[in-house]
Amino acid sequence: MEQLTRGLLLVLLFPCCLTQTTASNTTSATPTSSPQPRTDRLKVRLTGFPRKHNEGRVELFHKGEWGTICDDDFSIVNAHVLCRQLGFVEATGWTHSAKYGKGSGKIWLDNVLCSGSEKSIEQCKSRGWGNSDCTHDEDAGVVCKDERIPGFVDSNVIDAHVDENKIEEVRLQPVVVAAKKKLPITEGVVEVKYKDGWAQVCDLGWTIKNTRVLCGMLGFPHERKVNKNFYKRQKRRAAEKVPKPKVNVSAGGRLFLERQKSYFHVHSVACTGTEVHLAACPLEFSKPNSTSTCVGGSPAVISCMPGPLFMQNSSLKKKLKISTNVRLKGGARLGEGRVEVLKDSEWGTVCDDRWNLPSASVVCRELGFGSAKEAFTGARMGQGMGPIYMNEVKCVGHEKSIWSCPFRNITSEDCQHMEDAAVRCNIPYMGLENKIRITGGRTQNEGRVEVLSADPNGTLSWGLICGEGWSTKEAMVACRQLGLGYANQGLQETWYWDSSNVTDMVMSGVKCTGSELSLSQCQHHKTISCQKAAAKFSAGVICSETVSDLVLNASLVQQTVYIEDRPLHMLYCAAEEDCLSKSAAKANWPYGHRRLLRFSSQIHNIGRADFKPKAGRHSWVWHACHAHYHSMDIFTHYDLLNANGTKVAEGHKASFCLEDTDCHEGVSKRYECANFGDQGITVGCWDLYRHDIDCQWIDITDVKPGNYIMQVVINPNQEVAESDFTNNAMKCNCKYDGHRIWLHNCHIGDAFSEEAERRFEKYPGQLNNKIS
Ligand SMILES: *[C@@H]1O[C@H](CO)[C@@H](O)[C@H](O)[C@H]1NC(C)=O
Ligand SMILES: *[C@@H]1O[C@H](CO)[C@@H](O)[C@H](O)[C@H]1NC(C)=O
Ligand SMILES: *[C@@H]1O[C@H](CO)[C@@H](O)[C@H](O)[C@H]1NC(C)=O
Ligand SMILES: *[C@@H]1O[C@H](CO)[C@@H](O)[C@H](O)[C@H]1NC(C)=O
Ligand SMILES: *[C@@H]1O[C@H](CO)[C@@H](O)[C@H](O)[C@H]1NC(C)=O
Ligand SMILES: *[C@@H]1O[C@H](CO)[C@@H](O)[C@H](O)[C@H]1NC(C)=O
Ligand SMILES: *[C@@H]1O[C@H](CO)[C@@H](O)[C@H](O)[C@H]1NC(C)=O
Ligand SMILES: *[C@@H]1O[C@H](CO)[C@@H](O)[C@H](O)[C@H]1NC(C)=O
Ligand SMILES: *[C@@H]1O[C@H](CO)[C@@H](O)[C@H](O)[C@H]1NC(C)=O
Repeated sequence: MEQLTRGLLLVLLFPCCLTQTTASNTTSATPTSSPQPRTDRLKVRLTGFPRKHNEGRVELFHKGEWGTICDDDFSIVNAHVLCRQLGFVEATGWTHSAKYGKGSGKIWLDNVLCSGSEKSIEQCKSRGWGNSDCTHDEDAGVVCKDERIPGFVDSNVIDAHVDENKIEEVRLQPVVVAAKKKLPITEGVVEVKYKDGWAQVCDLGWTIKNTRVLCGMLGFPHERKVNKNFYKRQKRRAAEKVPKPKVNVSAGGRLFLERQKSYFHVHSVACTGTEVHLAACPLEFSKPNSTSTCVGGSPAVISCMPGPLFMQNSSLKKKLKISTNVRLKGGARLGEGRVEVLKDSEWGTVCDDRWNLPSASVVCRELGFGSAKEAFTGARMGQGMGPIYMNEVKCVGHEKSIWSCPFRNITSEDCQHMEDAAVRCNIPYMGLENKIRITGGRTQNEGRVEVLSADPNGTLSWGLICGEGWSTKEAMVACRQLGLGYANQGLQETWYWDSSNVTDMVMSGVKCTGSELSLSQCQHHKTISCQKAAAKFSAGVICSETVSDLVLNASLVQQTVYIEDRPLHMLYCAAEEDCLSKSAAKANWPYGHRRLLRFSSQIHNIGRADFKPKAGRHSWVWHACHAHYHSMDIFTHYDLLNANGTKVAEGHKASFCLEDTDCHEGVSKRYECANFGDQGITVGCWDLYRHDIDCQWIDITDVKPGNYIMQVVINPNQEVAESDFTNNAMKCNCKYDGHRIWLHNCHIGDAFSEEAERRFEKYPGQLNNKIS
């Protein structure tokens, strides 16, 4: 019998290696505990079979070698110490007599006697390292309570530095020739990458649960059954060894078994289906190229169902649904972001206590992605603004939605937005980044955009894009396709960059909505039409991992609104700055007044980079009247709209002097207006425009009583890049009886469900009728 190397199986959800600094200097054979700290951390892992992420044979990494613990004198107290060391709150049991299979190599510890307060097993009394009279028949195991120690470092990130047989990657080799060209590849022979290269997996005992785990890793939410007959045919041919050379029936456009020679390395895979990585499943490694490990079996072949975003077949695409009460916000790439959930028609966030990969995977899959690659805590994808709905989410992994998982309702003391949970999901490989490149820039993150296109003869070549109409939105798509995050800027002229190797212009009139995955999904001219076709007028981008995100505090607007009849003699400065509606020009200055709807604006930067005006300070405009510089010509729009969306109070475009009025705890102010200071809004800070400052109003002198929608839009021309433009508008229902004004339902643009937003929009019309 072939000797097997036991599956080493880093426990991915829960790293094998501790991050606490605990060990003492008593690494010698002294059976006493010692409190002296040592900088090395003892690595501990759970392994064996059949086991779960929270139970298994205990192995310790000492002197470069993994070894076991003998069960003599073992106790639940020892198990508590080990479980805590692994990041679990406590042990619920322990096992003896190699319940999870026999280990190999050293038996590192024997007669272990912990008192319970030790931080690491090596601080407990024992016979000392390597001193044991046991055999591997006596290997000890532990069962830990499936509850993580809050904040246990790195408990949710797949550990990168583990075993010699670590599975680094998985891929599918399509069996049908034509399928190679169509991305994503959804069906094929499974191959896993480990230190010696790629290997196949033996399908003996294979279940659809294994398929589910692999599909998740490959970016697909669901698994499919494969057409067995199709592969049986393949197998028979292989077995008969008939056409030993590659079966390349490409004439019929059909099959070829690229790999006649099977090279198994992994077998006995037994996933439960909830694992987020194959390496978290029980499985075994065999020696490379051993032949006896897959007798009667074949290379595992799987088939996956892509999410709608990645589905090529449009008729199938329509049938696929993704969750409408969960979304991701603020992520730089597709399939990542802050988790937001919909409750009572309003979006809110999830608190990160116990946030882990199984829960994150449920979110990923319900959004049409694969399993989660990472589960982030501590608002790594920016802070939300609205309610926080869930805490201590504990999904098993097979739930259809995060809403089906156990969780705790939240109170304001429990959590703050600093603890917003986020995910990075596995997404299928689409190869989109191979069809775009940037050239000429000063760094790898900027340059002229070039796309790969085919001429009528089918020859592929690179070409530039016409700069006309190229804006932040198009640049966002280009940077996303390049895999470089967000666009910091979209450039219409790129003459200042190196132009020694420029290509021809091949595309013009590109118009994107901003959410596309590649430029080919955007509209563009059928035949190129560019006024200035020289390379220096070609489209360029500056990409960035992080950008700002501005959001208005809607409840503050609602709380601070009032009407003021302001005498004209106090409004000269405002008139000069265009803060009054046109009819003011015909007024009998300085007699009379203007009726102003006043409110406070508090603009928060909840993004991941400071918000800074696009224009350099040399082009800021001095406003003598208010005695400060305006760094952005149009920073906000203030409008009052009627039922059909028509502006009833003339849109007032406000420019401001941007600064940090105040910041969250621990963040320091960086920008201030006074004395020609630097302008901007720091991440975690806000800029406050109090209701009583000049121009902080809408001039409603000409507005009749009725019901309206009040709307404030920040950065309306999307002049400065933000990670999210859907939250730039703030809207309120507004009721004006000719004397007083009320605002209600104030909310930012992306805070409501679609249905609630439709109800909201209807409001003015319905009530208008009642009033008039
Ligand atoms: C513990 O070990 C470290 C590193 O080997 C050494 O620097 C330190 O002096 C030792 N402490 C004691 C108390 O022996
Ligand atoms: C087999 O198929 C591949 C891929 O389509 C093709 O490149 C190759 O020329 C074919 N070989 C034969 C012998 O037909
Ligand atoms: C295993 O087989 C493959 C393919 O035949 C070969 O390239 C590789 O060198 C072999 N590995 C070992 C360790 O023999
Ligand atoms: C799309 O899927 C439908 C339903 O499975 C199938 O009938 C159709 O042939 C597919 N179309 C393409 C182009 O693959
Ligand atoms: C959480 O709150 C909802 C209502 O908002 C209630 O239906 C549910 O029972 C609560 N759950 C718990 C665990 O308190
Ligand atoms: C296509 O190929 C023909 C023949 O090789 C050539 O004359 C023609 O210029 C090519 N067209 C393009 C657009 O490259
Ligand atoms: C331009 O192309 C030439 C030849 O391919 C290459 O040697 C040179 O480095 C390129 N210059 C730049 C700036 O990329
Ligand atoms: C928004 O304004 C309200 C009312 O003044 C205040 O209670 C709340 O803390 C503000 N929100 C944030 C995120 O600052
Ligand atoms: C919108 O409403 C206003 C008055 O309420 C009306 O004058 C205007 O014609 C309407 N516009 C459209 C496009 O319906």
